[in-house]
Amino acid sequence: MSLLEAFKLKSSIPETYFTMTEEDMIERVRSVKKQLGNKLYIPGHHYQKDEVIQFADTTGDSLQLAQQSAKNRDAEYIVYCGVHFMAETADMLTENRQKVILPDMRAGCSMADMADIHQTEKAWEHLQSSFGDTILPLTYVNSTAAIKAFCGKNGGATVTSSNAERMLEWAFTQKERILFLPDQHLGRNTAYALGIPLEKMAVWDPIARELEIEGDLSDVKVILWKGHCSVHEKFTVENIQSLRDSDPEMRIIVHPECSHQVVQQSDMAGSTHYIIQAIQNAEPNSAWAIGTEMNLVNRLKKNNPDKRIVSLNPNMCPCLTMNRIDLPHLTYALEKIAQGDPENIITVDPLTTENAVKALERMLARA
Ligand code: 13P
Ligand code: SF4
Repeated sequence: MSLLEAFKLKSSIPETYFTMTEEDMIERVRSVKKQLGNKLYIPGHHYQKDEVIQFADTTGDSLQLAQQSAKNRDAEYIVYCGVHFMAETADMLTENRQKVILPDMRAGCSMADMADIHQTEKAWEHLQSSFGDTILPLTYVNSTAAIKAFCGKNGGATVTSSNAERMLEWAFTQKERILFLPDQHLGRNTAYALGIPLEKMAVWDPIARELEIEGDLSDVKVILWKGHCSVHEKFTVENIQSLRDSDPEMRIIVHPECSHQVVQQSDMAGSTHYIIQAIQNAEPNSAWAIGTEMNLVNRLKKNNPDKRIVSLNPNMCPCLTMNRIDLPHLTYALEKIAQGDPENIITVDPLTTENAVKALERMLARA
């Protein structure tokens, strides 16, 4: 389901869940967790709200949660506190008897929606005719199961922000060029960190169906899909400039979904996991401006009272789709399971799963 379709959906949970007190919902969640024990597993992405993350059995970034889902064979129900593509990945990496549930079907990802399979097949046709059989497709896990399957079928793999460099290095042992979907920024920042100059990167525009290229066609090493994260694009070089002017002591750390200029002008850049580790290991009294999702920045602030932490963009909002998963939706999802009538089960069809798992396994083997 695309984000647009998902937004058209109304929240399907009964009104009563929005009028319950927080204490009541907490009590209900605790009671279902106790009743189901190991039959229930709740992974929670670091961008989730505190009211949800307090109940997660594992918290992590995309890579850690994919690894944990692949390992878990006990849980009958995996209630995924994250977004749709993460729940799809969990479904594909677990056994058929295990049911993956997304508490709110409207929790999509605008970046994942920027590459659909029809656009990808058209792009592939065009690129094959320009470059021949020299391209390996890689997709950020923030993509639909169909795109992962496309990569798996064509010898490619998935990547996360934690292992993108390693995966790009591997990809170049397979083919001369890479098509990187759907986040141009992660692709560009990673390729640049590996020493590939910007002139050797081209951008595929899926709407205009054309290649944006500055150098020579034969020099192109990386073809970047023209997609981006609507949260991380809100961090700008102007934010960096005004912070450097007003508070030169601040160190700036950003996620590689931010633009190339922002990453280049920051002091450090890395995945969600990398940012958390850097802040936890930083000296007391150090000062940090962080360029990533707001729930995580606020949690880092709370958990590191000995450090001065701000968001790189003072007017930042959280990821709206991640925030669809809230305590009322989690409570309802769990109570439906306890009643033997689970809702919002995420199921990827067997053929898509078979090919997408090839792409995921190529990544997990190197993670
Ligand atoms: P990571 O968890 O890989 O850092 O990705 C961030 C993100 O945007 C998830 O949607
Ligand atoms: Fe998608 Fe960006 Fe939200 Fe992650 S933070 S779910 S990439 S929109």
